[in-house]
Parts: sequence; structure tokens; C-alpha cells
Amino acid sequence: MNFSALHQQVKNQTDASLLALIDQLPDYAPRLKDAMRHALLAGGKRMRPLLVQVVGNTLDVPKKDQMAISMAIECIHAYSLVHDDLPAMDDDDLRRGMPTCHIAFDEATAILAGDALQSLAFSVLADAPLSEFAQTKRSQLLSILAKSAGFLGMCGGQAIDLASTGVAISLDELKQLHQLKTGALLKACVEMVAVVCEDLTEQAKTDLMAFATDIGLAFQVQDDILDVEGSSEQLGKPAGSDQALGKNTFPAKLGLNGAKQELSELHNNALQALTRLPYNTDSLIAFSELLVKRDH
Ligand code: IPE
Ligand code: IPE
Ligand code: MG
Ligand code: MG
Ligand code: MG
Repeated sequence: MNFSALHQQVKNQTDASLLALIDQLPDYAPRLKDAMRHALLAGGKRMRPLLVQVVGNTLDVPKKDQMAISMAIECIHAYSLVHDDLPAMDDDDLRRGMPTCHIAFDEATAILAGDALQSLAFSVLADAPLSEFAQTKRSQLLSILAKSAGFLGMCGGQAIDLASTGVAISLDELKQLHQLKTGALLKACVEMVAVVCEDLTEQAKTDLMAFATDIGLAFQVQDDILDVEGSSEQLGKPAGSDQALGKNTFPAKLGLNGAKQELSELHNNALQALTRLPYNTDSLIAFSELLVKRDH
């Protein structure tokens, strides 16, 4: 199967599993349930589930373990977007080509949908059927997910993002901000798969995590570039939002060409880390190409 067919398959599987996850919830709070469905299922590139599958297949990790990790990560990701778009944060009204959750519903419902999606991520991972080996690693998986989503990861990064909006920060501070708000969750995808792989050497894990760190940062650098270069129609979210808000981004700090150069360096470093791995890394290479070349 070629890489774009694999991506399409991951999208279809993820959409179907997320839909089933929401549908099985009871109906006593229909507005909240609809808002959660809207947040999870209004499209999305499913890059994190794709990363889980690509790393999982490379390391020969059972499909059901990959699935549990993907579902949990995608619930955290969807919640982070709902809250990121709120008036108190980026105040955006378009997401994945649809009205953002607080526009389609209302602010209180969007806040609760984010909260409930976050909890759902942890119950999915706590309750999912896992392979015998992964079963012994469940608490470690939950710990990685919690750290990558919370103060030590996404929330910490979002806090720095908000606190530094309109304020000049150094390049190192900008990298830390991006590594936390976006890189941490992408790294968690790779680390969780690594943890449930039965025969991964310490060295291979180190190299794999070096790859994950580079692509995690690269993902947000490309997001920043697309905010400048893309159209709202193509992105499915408002283009130019960062500049309008005075956000700290790579193009704002280094100029568009500087940001592209940084992206290409991160890409090269990621590819370099892959050459050290004792696996066929073709699909990991294809993933990193997609990440830096994506246009939405
Ligand atoms: C957007 O993430 C927010 C960031 C963390 C940069 P994605 O670009 O993965 O958004 P979807 O899931 O495809 O909509
Ligand atoms: C979002 O960064 C990171 C998150 C944790 C959601 P952005 O604010 O740049 O994401 P978009 O551009 O709105 O998707
Ligand atoms: Mg934001
Ligand atoms: Mg935003
Ligand atoms: Mg952005």
C-alpha cells in the first residue's frame, strides 16, 4: 500500500472508531454529546494516528495497542483545539472548514466538550483492550499521556503562548513554547508506541525520540508558515490569525525564509536520526515529508 492510501485508511479507521466512541455515550446530555462529536469528527488530518500507525508498524506493535493510543491522543488533540479557539484564547471562528465548537454551540458547551474529551482520552486508554505485553505498561502509557497534555506539555505551552503574545521572546524561548504546545503530544505518540514494543533497544528508543522531537517542533513551524502563506479556505481555519493576534511564531521571529530554513534543518535532523535506526524507515521518512510539505 502506498503512503497516501495508508493515510486515507488511517483517516477512515480513526473517524469510524471515534464516531463509535461518542455514539456509545448515554443520551442524557445531547448538546454536550453533539459538541464532542463536532469537535472529534469535523475532519482533521489525523496526523497523530498516522504517526502512531507508522511507528507501530515499523516496530511491529499489535494493532489494538496502536488503536488505543491513537484514540486517546486524538481526544486530547480535539479538546486542545476546542479550547484553543475559545474567545479567551485565540478567538477563532473557523476550524476544519466548519464553525468552531463555541460558534456551532456556545461557549459553556465548548468548554465542557473540551473537558469531557480530555477525560474520555484517559478512560479510553485505561479501559481499552491491549495486548498482554502492553497491558503491563498501561500505567506508563497513562503517565506519558498525562504529562504530554498537562503543565509539562500542551497546557504549559499554551500558557507560555498566551503570556508571551505581543511580547518579544528569544528563539530558544520560542522553541520551548512550540515544543510544549505542539511537540509534546506528537512526541507522546512515538513514546507510547515505543513503550509497548517488546524488543526495542535503549539506543533505538533514543534515536526514535530524537526523530520525534524534531518532527514535533517542525509540525508547529509548518503550522506557523501556513498561517502566513495559506488561505482560510485551504487551511479550514482563519489564515493570518497569528499576526492579527501578535503571536510568537517562527515567521515573525525569523522571517518567512528563515522559518523555512529552520523547517528544513529540523527535517534533515529528523532524517539523520532515522538513519541510525535498525529498521526499514521508509514510512517514517514519508511521514516526515508529508509533515513539512503539507499545505493545510
Ligand atoms: C493544529 O493541528 C494545531 C496544532 C497543534 C498545530 P493539526 O494541523 O493536526 O489539526 P487537524 O487535526 O488536522 O485539524
Ligand atoms: C495550537 O497552536 C496548539 C494547540 C495546542 C492547540 P495554534 O493556535 O497555532 O493552532 P491553530 O493554528 O489554531 O490550529
Ligand atoms: Mg493557539
Ligand atoms: Mg489557534
Ligand atoms: Mg496556528
